[in-house]
Amino acid sequence: MEKISIALLGLGTVGTGVYKVLKAQKEDMARKIGAELEIKKILVRNLEKAAGKVDDPGVLTNSWQEILDDPQIQIVAEVMGGIEPAGTYILQALEAGKNVVTANKDLLAVKGKELFDAAGRKGQDLLFEAAVAGGIPIIRPLKQCLAGNHMTEVMGIVNGTTNFILTRMLADGMEFQEALDLASRLGYAEADPSADIEGLDAARKVAILASVAFHSRVTLEDVYTEGITKITATDIRYAREMGYTIKLLGVAKETEGAIEARVHPMMIPSSHPLASVKDSFNAVFVHGDAVDDAMFYGRGAGELPTASAVVGDLFDIARNIRFGCCGRISCTCYRNLPVKKIDEVTSRYFLRMQVDDQCGVLASISSVFGSNGVSLAQVIQKAKQQDTAELVVITEGVVERHFADSLKILKGLSIVKEISAAIRVYGD
Ligand code: NAP
Ligand code: HSE
Repeated sequence: MEKISIALLGLGTVGTGVYKVLKAQKEDMARKIGAELEIKKILVRNLEKAAGKVDDPGVLTNSWQEILDDPQIQIVAEVMGGIEPAGTYILQALEAGKNVVTANKDLLAVKGKELFDAAGRKGQDLLFEAAVAGGIPIIRPLKQCLAGNHMTEVMGIVNGTTNFILTRMLADGMEFQEALDLASRLGYAEADPSADIEGLDAARKVAILASVAFHSRVTLEDVYTEGITKITATDIRYAREMGYTIKLLGVAKETEGAIEARVHPMMIPSSHPLASVKDSFNAVFVHGDAVDDAMFYGRGAGELPTASAVVGDLFDIARNIRFGCCGRISCTCYRNLPVKKIDEVTSRYFLRMQVDDQCGVLASISSVFGSNGVSLAQVIQKAKQQDTAELVVITEGVVERHFADSLKILKGLSIVKEISAAIRVYGD
């Protein structure tokens, strides 16, 4: 039986999961892939801390050079995270003729091109299924099973922490901070949850998804990003009354020869399949000209779900090594489409505001929208307190720039006491 040696870089949540899954697969893997994968080295910072996590502490090292110089190591699985030194290690591994698996969305969303160019040049595999939506297969389906499509839309819930928070706000009427505290207590949110709640984690995944789906490089800075920190229990309640559920959505579309890539809270009809994705689950919804709609659902993070994706990539590379066909599916960005700025995109909006409760207010507000080309679909007066009325407006599809102009004018009107929320609504 052929033995293929691999090195793990990192033995944290994902690294430990990969170690466990490979151990659990020891018997079956030979029959599945016709080879035995052996972890020859594991790179860690602190040897002592890592020793209790493995059967044979002899595999642990804190020398990257030792791994790089070992010709028997044919695959490096980078599960340490961060931009550096992970980026340099991956480049050096590829240059040394090794194949690479990575779960590192932070790195791919900013330096993907450089890494994929190196892999392509050397004819090596660089696989990254775990980098988007953890255990959910989505990169391989887009690159392989759906390759016969012209994809036009990829939209999803790709951050588990924020989906958990929004689910608790909806189901239990919690305010944002209370739900975030619960997410931290249950171990869903990181010690510093800002990348999750500010939408950055989802934006990295959208950059990667858009690049793969539309064959054109999209980087983190191309993705308009807005988190969920301003969403209140009142907005969630009003959305529910109107038949909508608020989700933090990653949206990537190809329209009129350009790409839209954005992350923001959105009201989606409660009957939409993504509305039923609850707690820390993720889901990605795609639309292609041949397949029509398809949705992928599952666990977007965690030790074993993420390891499931990493090990799938390791098995794929092992098969490629056996048949001498590494680099078979390399970078698929063969187009160079522009990415639209957010102010050129068309959205529908839910706007909640506190206004003077007096005659003519509604006419003044409608006139601001009308003169900026914003057409209104619904206007509802909600709660009334003394001399203040709460107005909820739903717009038709409107160019974001025109909506932003209207908002600026409304904020300057004395009859408008507060703009309480502006949330995008699903649909054109
Ligand atoms: P983690 O628990 O923080 O583990 C990182 C590991 O890498 C630790 O063992 C750490 O060692 C080691 N490490 C970090 N920098 C190192 C360096 N310079 N040299 C040697 N070892 C180093 O992180 P994780 O949650 O497993 O995430 C790993 C990667 O997977 C990240 O790219 C993340 O975005 C991605 N990912 C994670 C999940 C998830 O559910 N956690 C899901 C999808 C993707 P020390 O402990 O000694 O610092
Ligand atoms: N922090 C991410 C989430 C998991 O909450 O989904 C890692 O991608």
